[in-house]
This record gives sequence, C-alpha cells and structure tokens, in this order.
Amino acid sequence: MRRLSSDDAGSEVDLVEAYAYPEGRTWLRANMISTLDGAAWSLEGRSGGLGNEADRRLFSLTRGMADVVIAGAGTARVEGYGPVDPGAGWDELRKGRTAVPPLAVVSRSLDLDLDGPLFTEADPRTILLTVADAPADRLVKARDRADVIIAGEHAVDFAEARRRLEERGHRRLVCEGGPHTLAQVVADGVLDELCLTLSPKLLSGTASRVLNGTVLAAPAGMRLQQVLEDEGFLFLRYFKE
Ligand SMILES: NC(=O)c1ccc[n+]([C@@H]2O[C@H](COP(=O)([O-])OP(=O)(O)OC[C@H]3O[C@@H](n4cnc5c(N)ncnc54)[C@H](OP(=O)(O)O)[C@@H]3O)[C@@H](O)[C@H]2O)c1
Repeated sequence: MRRLSSDDAGSEVDLVEAYAYPEGRTWLRANMISTLDGAAWSLEGRSGGLGNEADRRLFSLTRGMADVVIAGAGTARVEGYGPVDPGAGWDELRKGRTAVPPLAVVSRSLDLDLDGPLFTEADPRTILLTVADAPADRLVKARDRADVIIAGEHAVDFAEARRRLEERGHRRLVCEGGPHTLAQVVADGVLDELCLTLSPKLLSGTASRVLNGTVLAAPAGMRLQQVLEDEGFLFLRYFKE
C-alpha cells in the first residue's frame, strides 16, 4: 500500500489535459457519480444533488470533449434532457466540430417526448439508438425527428451501436448512464474508461449503484489511471484492463 500524495499535490490541474481522449482510436468513456455507500442517485431520483461545482465542471468538460453523448432513455426522462448547451471554454474544445455534440438516446420503447425540444430543437439532431422491434408507429415518428440507428433486434447491442457511431465519425464517445444502460455497455464489452466521482456523502436506502444489470460472468477489471480531489470529492479515472 502507498500514499497517493506527490510533489505537485495541491496544484491546480489542467482538466483538458487530464481528461484527454487517447489519440488515434475510438474510445468509449462513462462519466458517473456515486456516494460513498454506492448510491447513484439521491432522494428526488436524480444524480445532480450528489455533486459539487467541480463535478458539474467535469460533466460539462466531458460533454464538450465528446463527439457524441450517449444516455439511456430512463436518464433522459428523469433528468429532463434537452439539447446539449455549450459550456464555458467549449469554443477551443470544439474547433473543427459542431458547436455541441449530439445526444444519442438509447431506447427500446421509444416512450420519449418526440415533440419536445430534444427532438425538435437539437442541432445537430438527436440520435436514437434503438431496436428492430421498437413500436412501429413510434419508429415512424422517431425517424422524422431524429437520426435513428437500429442496433439490435430486441436490445441495443452496444458493440454494434459503437460501430455505427464510429461510421458517422464519432470516435470520442461519452456515456452518461444511467445504471441500466451502463451495465449493458459493460456487458457488451465496449467500455474503455470509467470516470467516477466519489461524493463524500452517505445516503443508505435503495438507490441503484452506477451499474445495474445482470451480474457479469466475470468481473470486468479496471486499472486506476488518475485520482483528483476537490472539497473531499474524489475524481477517479479508470481504464479497462
Ligand atoms: N449517478 C450517476 O452518475 C447517474 C448517471 C445517469 C443517471 N443517473 C440516474 O439514474 C436513473 C436512471 O437510470 P436507469 O438505470 O433507470 O435508466 P437508464 O439506464 O438511463 O435508461 C434505461 C432505459 O434505457 C433504454 N435501454 C438501456 N439499455 C438498452 C438496450 N440495451 N436496448 C434498448 N434499450 C435500452 C431502455 O429505454 P426504454 O424504457 O425507453 O425502452 C431502458 O428502460 C435516474 O435516476 C438518473 O438520475 C445517475
């Protein structure tokens, strides 16, 4: 065992550098937050209440760095996702790309407000990652309002989804959960990196942890890449082993 402190402990970190995507390959990162006791959302069912200003900055930065932001329909519904808003410092980050990344919402049911801003105002258009047996009537309307990608028969296969996003030129991917979606991403073997904010709070109760799905046959090993700290929050960066 060893201490993590080093000579430059305490100095301000260049987050753009600290969270740079590896060059020259497609890379799928997830950005999640958890309390010390493993809760992925707080009382009102949202994860926002768990974070601090630095976590919100990181959330914005990981969006700004990404070519596409992937989110499960559950999160889009609960958190009321709309089109991505540009964040501070994005002009430099997004040079040569669209001003904001598109959102790619994962859904089988397509039970989403297709008349809402996420589908009527987003520029670039929202992407829907869905399945062949999605409700036919909703699929027709979805095709009108979004860029629809069918990536599986009954469930989105994230290896296929990732390939299809890559074909569109999206190589820097960030998944914002939620826990059901992220569990499937990991089960499909395509998660390269987990950015986990450990919030110094205890919550108890029945909130999900950051992955919530079928138990994996073997634990997916992750290698610690970076630890940052702010106000007792830990910002952990892990790469797939
Ligand atoms: N702690 C964190 O960092 C964090 C991050 C994000 C969200 N959250 C919290 O997590 C909660 C929502 O999470 P959740 O796990 O319930 O929902 P979720 O993962 O956001 O969304 C689940 C939904 O996504 C669709 N989906 C996921 N995988 C699919 C697949 N392989 N094929 C087809 N559709 C698929 C389905 O949508 P349909 O039902 O439309 O078919 C499914 O019901 C919210 O409370 C949110 O605040 C926490």
